[in-house]
Amino acid sequence: MTIDLTNQQAVITGAANGIGAAIAKAFLDAGSSVLALDSDADALAAFRKGQSGNLETATADVSDFDSLKEIAAGRNVDHLICAAAIGSGVGGFPFWNQSPADWGRVIDVTLMGTVNTLHAFVPPLLSGETDRKSVAILASVAGQIGSQTDPPYSACKAAIINFAQCAAKDFASRGIRVNAISPGMVRTALSRSVFEANKDSEAGSYEEWGIEKVEKTAPLARWQEPEEFGAMAVYLASEHGRNITGQTINIDGGQVMHS
Ligand SMILES: NC(=O)c1ccc[n+]([C@@H]2O[C@H](COP(=O)([O-])OP(=O)(O)OC[C@H]3O[C@@H](n4cnc5c(N)ncnc54)[C@H](O)[C@@H]3O)[C@@H](O)[C@H]2O)c1
Repeated sequence: MTIDLTNQQAVITGAANGIGAAIAKAFLDAGSSVLALDSDADALAAFRKGQSGNLETATADVSDFDSLKEIAAGRNVDHLICAAAIGSGVGGFPFWNQSPADWGRVIDVTLMGTVNTLHAFVPPLLSGETDRKSVAILASVAGQIGSQTDPPYSACKAAIINFAQCAAKDFASRGIRVNAISPGMVRTALSRSVFEANKDSEAGSYEEWGIEKVEKTAPLARWQEPEEFGAMAVYLASEHGRNITGQTINIDGGQVMHS
């Protein structure tokens, strides 16, 4: 199967690192033009160095709706992928280890950042021929199973899954498809920060914590790799995904099924 996204424009948030970077690379490899957005200007510059293809980068904080609207103005966008997110950085088991104040920034970035991004890019998505267009939102298994590590993060991801379904229904008459892609456990800065926030005095390494967790929670008992999300996002954006909308696609080693 070959996927050719030549002459198509993808916009990806959280594209400087981890899963977002792998998705940006996968779109570039498929021939798409890519606008990579991230709040971390240094990481964005480092990401840019390794890439070939039609890549534009811009520093943007997804919690800032006005700056996203400025970036979106006058564009025609085919595919929008929302990967930017943060956790609270505070151990969330039990939930009262955290305080209500730990929820604010997570909601601003992980939930409202996604809402802002979709709102800002509605005009570019509705511009021109819309039939081949798509949106993918990175959710999480945490949004489906009440994960006991970071309740504000889990709650934001649950809200995003629901919002993806609302958007899928609203866009369907234009042929624009919207799906949530849910990772389980991927070695990135974000998952390492969850380990750091929740580790106790007897904790081993990040790698040991991760493998113990996947063995306990996922039948396939292994980490997922960022490239698997690049492949899925490109597939969903392509002609092969033309009948897939409103879905939550778990790439999680069977974790949600198992829970
Ligand atoms: N890593 C995992 O195990 C895992 C599991 C479930 C879901 N996810 C989801 O996958 C997506 C990608 O996460 P990742 O693991 O690659 O994390 P990551 O920390 O490696 O990458 C996140 C990127 O988002 C950027 N970002 C953070 N705040 C931002 C803001 N306000 N505006 C713009 N950019 C911002 C960061 O600079 C970073 O480049 C996220 O939506 C995350 O919730 C990851």
